[in-house]
Amino acid sequence: MELKVVKASVEKGEGLGWGKSLLVPSIQEILKNDSQSVPERYIQEPKDRPLISQNLFDSLQVPVIDFSMLAQKDANEIRKLDLACKEWGFFQIINHGVREETMVNMKAAMAAFFELPFQEKSKCAKAANEIQGYGQNFVVSEKQKLDWCDMMFLKTFPHETRNFKYWPLTLPGFKEAVEEYSTEIRKVSNKIDANLSVLMGMDENGLKRKLGEFQQGIRMNYYPTCSRPDLVLGISPHSDGSLFTLLLQDDEINGLQIKHKKVWIDAKPIRNSLVVNIGDAIEILSNGMYKSIEHRAISNEKKPRMSIATFVMPGDEVQIGPLDSMVNGKHLPRSYRNIKYIDYIRQKFANENAGKSSHRHC
Ligand code: OGA
Ligand code: NI
Repeated sequence: MELKVVKASVEKGEGLGWGKSLLVPSIQEILKNDSQSVPERYIQEPKDRPLISQNLFDSLQVPVIDFSMLAQKDANEIRKLDLACKEWGFFQIINHGVREETMVNMKAAMAAFFELPFQEKSKCAKAANEIQGYGQNFVVSEKQKLDWCDMMFLKTFPHETRNFKYWPLTLPGFKEAVEEYSTEIRKVSNKIDANLSVLMGMDENGLKRKLGEFQQGIRMNYYPTCSRPDLVLGISPHSDGSLFTLLLQDDEINGLQIKHKKVWIDAKPIRNSLVVNIGDAIEILSNGMYKSIEHRAISNEKKPRMSIATFVMPGDEVQIGPLDSMVNGKHLPRSYRNIKYIDYIRQKFANENAGKSSHRHC
């Protein structure tokens, strides 16, 4: 009898959350014992290794969008945004309205967390069957190559999704910094959402009406230095499962690379900017007009790099599929099946980060 109940709840996916990931050692801790070490499990197959010295495409730049011009509904800037979404799936925004102090505090809070002794950080450790907390995600096999990165993932909106079990509440200022940053970023994401709604043939509230309240999750990535950055990857190639993602990266250190027309391009940091990328959910909703682009991060020998990725997502129970305004008989036939968002996300977390493997076309 008991077994049946358990089975039924597993089948319905109850209690499963978004997914799970095998527990792996902290690369930051491994390096504390031997800073030169490059353990086997982190060494990528030759075909997957980054070409660190390759600068052939240095002149290509991810498009920069002036957010204050979007607020003024500047037609030229809106066209630039549309082109950036179509041709790059990535853009950097400046004048986005998030105060510098908010970003500095968020970065400092994250740095303070990762500087804590391992024992302290471990109090926020994720469980194997959860994706929130400190550790690593997308590890599904013992044989898989590991990323040169430790991370901390927290759900931030709606409020009731916050699970403070995973928050370092005793770390002074951490909670406040995340609360302020996530609130400010939500304002920016609402404006992006309004612009994308219009570009996808709806009014400004189109996406909200279709999807309801968005969820927000923050992934803090800590990339330690590596004595052989040519052999490892900070984060393996992947596309994001979000609607879109806003990344706060280090102001100086290169690390993020995006696949543009089959080659890897550096998304060079611009001070105080945010990198925005289209995620899988907008690709599906836009019926493929806006593609979620593969990206990765490389490590470096000189300085640890930190980045903060904020994922904007539909609610778990929301069905996503091409918007009516993006499907038009013969001209724009429907290219994606409808799927409940949580099913999409579970599928994503059940696979390692390996390009765009979990995409569902018709
Ligand atoms: C991510 C991501 C890139 C970076 O967290 O999904 O792509 O530069 N991060 O840290
Ligand atoms: Ni990403």
